[in-house]
This record gives sequence, structure tokens and C-alpha cells, in this order.
Amino acid sequence: MALNVELLESSFAQIKMNSSEVTKRFYTLLFTDYPEVQPLFANTHMEKQGKQLFQSLVFTVNNLRKPDALSDVLRGLGTRHVQYGVLPQHYPMVGSSLLKAFEVSLGTAWTPDVQQAWIEAYEVVAQLMLEGADYSPERLMPTVVK
Ligand code: HEM
Repeated sequence: MALNVELLESSFAQIKMNSSEVTKRFYTLLFTDYPEVQPLFANTHMEKQGKQLFQSLVFTVNNLRKPDALSDVLRGLGTRHVQYGVLPQHYPMVGSSLLKAFEVSLGTAWTPDVQQAWIEAYEVVAQLMLEGADYSPERLMPTVVK
């Protein structure tokens, strides 16, 4: 899929100016709309986590023109997320809250084209992360499935 790189870059430049506010709003929306994911962050230092999440978004947008490097990093990120207890069904939840946080940050600049560009970009990111993740039953329930 050809992502709308120009639109992603220009809209993200604006989002970046309020990174800590956007990140805080993202987690507030996530835990309000999907309280079932909050336990995954029970032992997490949320301020540090927010910075790491935003850094990975910066890396992603900076590397949209280098898909090979980006794909490797995102697959690795997806591999690590299995250890954090993240399941495939959590990805649309995070996507929805993240895009809502972007929408609030951009205000009138959140046009239908910008929204579409981010929906497509998130789908690609989530797909790559899931490619790197092993969700085989043996892995999820090692003591039950032999
Ligand atoms: C676009 C998708 C996502 C991105 C870019 C992302 C990014 C990150 C980053 C950069 C970290 C820091 C640790 C590391 O690098 O391995 C992290 C940790 C984590 N993420 Fe994600 N993530 C995404 C999706 C998700 C989803 C769908 C969930 C499920 C709710 C989730 C839950 C977590 C948890 C629980 C941690 C570990 C926190 C800890 O260290 O205690 N992430 N994520």
C-alpha cells in the first residue's frame, strides 16, 4: 500500500509540537475507552513509557521513506510486545485512541485526507508488528497445549 508520506510528515510535524500533551491524552483515552488494557501497564512508569512510545512514532515517521529499515524495527517491536502481554485484538484499541489523540491535537487540520492517511499508516505499522509476533497457542499457553 502506498502511504501518503507527505501528509503524514506534515501533520506529524504539528503533532510533535505538543508531544507530551498528545501522549498523555492518548493514554487517558485508551484507559477510559478500553479499561481492560490498563492491567498490562500495572508496573509501568507511565511518563517514561509515554516518551518511548512517542520516540517510536518519531522514528516511524522519519523512516517512512526507508521501508526496509522501518519494517525490521517494527517487527522487533512487535516481538517484544508479546512479552508485555499484548494480544492482536489490542492493536485496534490502541489505534483508535492514538488517532483520537491526534485528532484533538490537530483540530481543524484533522481533515478527512489526514485521517485516512493515519488510518492506513496505523494499519501498516500494526501489521508489521504482528508479523514479528509469535501468537501460536504453544507460546500463549505453554503449560496447557502440548
Ligand atoms: C503502533 C503501535 C505501538 C507502538 C508504536 C508501541 C510502542 C511501544 C514502545 C516503544 C514501548 C517501549 C518498550 C519497547 O521498545 O519494547 C512499548 C511498550 C509497551 N507497549 Fe506498546 N506500542 C504499540 C502498541 C501497543 C499495544 C497495541 C499495546 C496493548 C495495549 C501496547 C502495550 C505496551 C506495553 C504493556 C508495554 C510495556 C510497558 C512496560 O515496560 O511496562 N503497545 N510500546
